[in-house]
Amino acid sequence: MRDTPGITMNSRSARSWSLRKKAIASPELVIGTSILAVLFNFIPGAKAQSYPDYSPLRYQLQHTYEGASFFDHFNYYSDSDPTDGFVTYVTKDTSQALNLTYATDTTATLRVDTSTPNPSGGRNSVRVESKNTYDSGLFVFDIIHTPYGCGTWPALWLTDGANWPRNGEIDILESHNHGSHGNEMSLHTMAGCSMDVERRQAGTAMDGNCDIGADGNAGCAVMGDPSTYGVGFNTGGGGVYALELRTAGIRIWNFARSKIPSDIHGGSPDPSSWGLPLADFPSTNCDVASHFRNMNIVANIDLCGQFAGMSSHYTQMYGCPGSCADFVASNPSQFEDAYWQFGGIRVYNASQ
Ligand SMILES: *[C@@H]1O[C@H](CO)[C@@H](O)[C@H](O)[C@H]1NC(C)=O
Repeated sequence: MRDTPGITMNSRSARSWSLRKKAIASPELVIGTSILAVLFNFIPGAKAQSYPDYSPLRYQLQHTYEGASFFDHFNYYSDSDPTDGFVTYVTKDTSQALNLTYATDTTATLRVDTSTPNPSGGRNSVRVESKNTYDSGLFVFDIIHTPYGCGTWPALWLTDGANWPRNGEIDILESHNHGSHGNEMSLHTMAGCSMDVERRQAGTAMDGNCDIGADGNAGCAVMGDPSTYGVGFNTGGGGVYALELRTAGIRIWNFARSKIPSDIHGGSPDPSSWGLPLADFPSTNCDVASHFRNMNIVANIDLCGQFAGMSSHYTQMYGCPGSCADFVASNPSQFEDAYWQFGGIRVYNASQ
């Protein structure tokens, strides 16, 4: 755990995080998994000293999300936000009418409504979920712009919303407010998934317990440096994030645009040639294949809510003004930078 001001575990109190994640967890489930976590903690970590075999897999292209049809591959989530955001997730029709999602031959943009003054229930925004679901694969995200600004809580993640947390959650990009502290990559699982083992990664490990019942659902996070999110990442045209999800473990790399490996450009990505990942979640004490299943790719921009709106984040860490909901309601023009822009997404699967 690092002691960067504002990024201490204290800043993520159990109360603030207890219902944090993006689907609904019943109290019984949270309590149940806590008890299980206690039981699991008494099982000696016989494998704690080992490290999984990440020997290269042969990947072939499975799905491509790009061009003018980008959003045809996604459903629009338009129910109320399970994480208490001051946000109204709009339908596909509304999104098109408001131009909140917009795709060209080379870009796909998701943005927050920058014009409606003083919405009462929350500012319009989008949350899209891929129609395809995944158990494993190599996911290459070409990202031109990450969203940021006071009150924002953007994320790019994988989950099975109807079966959360049973089928897991992988946060590939997540940050809040100006996001200049960097990207937070995290897993959220049922009991029995721990990262207090050997890891080989460039990022900074925080909590080791991925169980949603532990530490107020802080997840087992890894922090990147300021170049991994927000202005630090967007300058120079963003770059690539790659997620490898396989039985051996889960790894995330990021590359500035000028440093994208040639095998990614060439369409034959080989993670074994990429060097140290930014985040490494090995399977040593976490059965990846059973904790992560049937997940959609999700991109959203939440506002306020249980992460961005916490006073430790919104006020103390970023000095954002007043109350988060008041700010978001009355300052539409402050959301000009609150947009995702993707060059495309490619998903590869391993040949048997
Ligand atoms: C929609 O937004 C895009 C940028 O994301 C812009 O280029 C385009 O002109 C907008 N379309 C309309 C009708 O405003």
